[in-house]
Amino acid sequence: MVDKIISDSRYLHELDIIKEIEKDRIFCKHDYNHCKEVSEILTILSKRRGLDNFEELSVLMSYFHDIGRAFRYDDSHDKCSSDFVRLLLEEYEYQEEDVELICYAINNHSGRMSENKIYDYIDNNLVEDSIGDTWAMLLRIADQLSRNCYSCKAREMCKWHEGEKISENWKQRI
Ligand SMILES: [Fe+2]
Ligand SMILES: [Fe+2]
Repeated sequence: MVDKIISDSRYLHELDIIKEIEKDRIFCKHDYNHCKEVSEILTILSKRRGLDNFEELSVLMSYFHDIGRAFRYDDSHDKCSSDFVRLLLEEYEYQEEDVELICYAINNHSGRMSENKIYDYIDNNLVEDSIGDTWAMLLRIADQLSRNCYSCKAREMCKWHEGEKISENWKQRI
């Protein structure tokens, strides 16, 4: 079912729109590849914490977290992404509880933290008070770790603070 959802033509259409918007963008893109990388990292992090249904949730959160950029290319894209995925998942009659988790995490995925905080969270297997906040935190971390700041040509012009930029050894540290 998840494969069907992430290949729904309406989703792919919005991805194409983002591709067009970002065709001259020098900073990180929000394309299919980004979704795939976030999904791989989120799967590792959520599995380690033993979260229920971690495989499907990781895929759905990751593939849809930035889709709202097709509608609003700014920080409120998280809400647009969440509204978009909700309609689609309801149509596919995806289980309600998980729809709520997916929408909550996507709606709260914006924001970055220092690399130190990321590794502290990972090393100590930390979780938040609620399952929704844990997923939101892991999605944020996976989103940030998916960026190759260490080899980025636009690094000097990027608005991220130096301490937030991802170092080359990140794979060994997660
Ligand atoms: Fe985003
Ligand atoms: Fe992202």
